[in-house]
Amino acid sequence: MKYTNIDFNEKTILITGGAGFIGSNLAFYFQENYPKSNVVVLDCFRSEQTLSNGNLKSFGHYKNLLGFTGTVISGDINDKVILKKLEHDYNFDYIFHEAAISDTTVNEQDLMIQTNVNAYEDLLKLAINHDANMIYASSAATYGDAPSPQTVGCENPGNVYGFSKLMMDNISYKYIAEGATISIVGLRYFNVYGPREFYKNKTASTVVQFGHQILSGKTPKLFEGSDKILRDFIYIEDIIQANIKACAPKKSGVYNVGTGKARSFQDIADILQRELDTNLGTDYIPNPYVGQYQFHTEANIDETIENLDYKPAFEMEDGIKAYIADIRRLYETEVKKG
Ligand SMILES: NC(=O)c1ccc[n+]([C@@H]2O[C@H](COP(=O)([O-])OP(=O)(O)OC[C@H]3O[C@@H](n4cnc5c(N)ncnc54)[C@H](O)[C@@H]3O)[C@@H](O)[C@H]2O)c1
Repeated sequence: MKYTNIDFNEKTILITGGAGFIGSNLAFYFQENYPKSNVVVLDCFRSEQTLSNGNLKSFGHYKNLLGFTGTVISGDINDKVILKKLEHDYNFDYIFHEAAISDTTVNEQDLMIQTNVNAYEDLLKLAINHDANMIYASSAATYGDAPSPQTVGCENPGNVYGFSKLMMDNISYKYIAEGATISIVGLRYFNVYGPREFYKNKTASTVVQFGHQILSGKTPKLFEGSDKILRDFIYIEDIIQANIKACAPKKSGVYNVGTGKARSFQDIADILQRELDTNLGTDYIPNPYVGQYQFHTEANIDETIENLDYKPAFEMEDGIKAYIADIRRLYETEVKKG
């Protein structure tokens, strides 16, 4: 589906974090819709290195790029030598910056700020030097427990991850105010789910995790009161739409990308059971995160509609339906085996 009149054929596009969930979906979007686009993926991929929370330091996985025919570069966005080389070797038209410590539970503040904030500014300078429009991933985590509907300008990050994304937005505002010649758009994704998220392991969405629990015959385990824990869950295809439309914004800025509708974790479990044709009920366990958990998120998307012409197309029922074949495939090829 083409979301814009821009012809990306013959354009050179950098996707940082292109071996991750959202970046790889973007890479395939261009490959499939604009076969003559020149897509360059930069990602540090995964090593066995873990952080103090026990999770991998980075989740990029070659399997997300199986079938990709563009250029793949393994490199760290914190490495200034690599950034210089990219600046020298290419002339980018668009930069989609998805690389980040995406795990919201990471405690290493030094690594988080360096990777998410400082490297972003380096990439922004590269974008300005190339006259490439910048589209980057911010996050709903900038809002922390701020009340719904979350609105740009009313942030209250509850962890260093949310703080780092807010600092990226502040950098962007500064460059915009100084009259940057490119467009700069920060997209505050809410809770994204869909194909190619599986390799995020425990940080993948509840949709795929519940899906696999159900397929293995287990009753999905929800936190007590899950019918009252509501989030704005958004299907990957709508995230792609927002990124593509952000290439030609009416106005540079920071925009929420959600559906504008909060749904419960109970809804996810129920829709999955319907789609997978099971009747396992639900088990409830105490919520250990009370006090440090977003209990209600719902994006205010008025400005996104106005300035990006964005219109979410997937209700949760539609997104899960579109995703279900992939959830089954992953269960057969990855979960059962492993
Ligand atoms: N998925 C969501 O629900 C969600 C919500 C809000 C914001 N975001 C943001 O969207 C972006 C993409 O997230 P995702 O869900 O695809 O996560 P992801 O972890 O799958 O993708 C991030 C990619 O960045 C790479 N990376 C990490 N550190 C790097 C470094 N130093 N140098 C080069 N590459 C590096 C990883 O290997 C990974 O492939 C991230 O910036 C994330 O913070 C995601």
